[in-house]
Amino acid sequence: MGLVLIVTGTPGTGKTLIAKKLASILGLRYLNLLDYILERGLAERYDEERKSWEVDTEKVRRFLHSDITTTRNIIVDSLIPDILFNDDVDFVIVLRTDPLVLAKRLIARGWSLEKIIENVEAELIGVCLSEALDWYDEEKVIEIDTTEGTPSDICHDIAGLIRRKVVRRQGWIDWTLKYPDPFELRSLIREVYEESSVISNSSSPS
Ligand SMILES: Nc1ncnc2c1ncn2[C@@H]1O[C@H](COP(=O)(O)OP(=O)(O)O)[C@@H](O)[C@H]1O
Ligand SMILES: [Mg+2]
Repeated sequence: MGLVLIVTGTPGTGKTLIAKKLASILGLRYLNLLDYILERGLAERYDEERKSWEVDTEKVRRFLHSDITTTRNIIVDSLIPDILFNDDVDFVIVLRTDPLVLAKRLIARGWSLEKIIENVEAELIGVCLSEALDWYDEEKVIEIDTTEGTPSDICHDIAGLIRRKVVRRQGWIDWTLKYPDPFELRSLIREVYEESSVISNSSSPS
């Protein structure tokens, strides 16, 4: 039977980059969940305030089940960890990034400070990881740190683990050990954010 993988994680942890590269290394089809949802008209409604689509995850799961389980050999790039049935997936790759590094990546995307802080705090406490662990068998979950190293090295590392069907048992990442005070982290992010907006203002053509 072919492989079904899911790559999940907070925005900016590298899902799209890693999932596409991994798909080419392992010879799998790449599926972007958001594109899939929009193409099939599975979005319920657009939340203007949050700038995101609301979806009925159970409905999407059933659609994915009938679309991918016959062909398999696919890698799903998804912000929502629990979008596949446990039995439909072989490995769940949860990408993790140091919160401050993640904040810098999101600043580079031009996101608002509020949205950056919301996402970085979700990464700080490991929201995606705990959702993945709640939904899937623990032995299917592989956590990968994408803070450092090249995406190519990271992908070869993941490909090796998958080929050997090895699951790392090194204990889960806990960023709160590095950033014990969330208020301090917030002010660090605010500083970097303000610095970068000063730079982009001074470098914009007048
Ligand atoms: N080691 C790394 N792994 C993944 N992405 C990295 C890494 N180092 C830097 N990046 C950068 O982080 C960003 C991740 O973006 P993307 O793949 O779109 O994330 P996501 O799909 O999770 O929002 C890219 O701009 C990428 O160049
Ligand atoms: Mg993406």
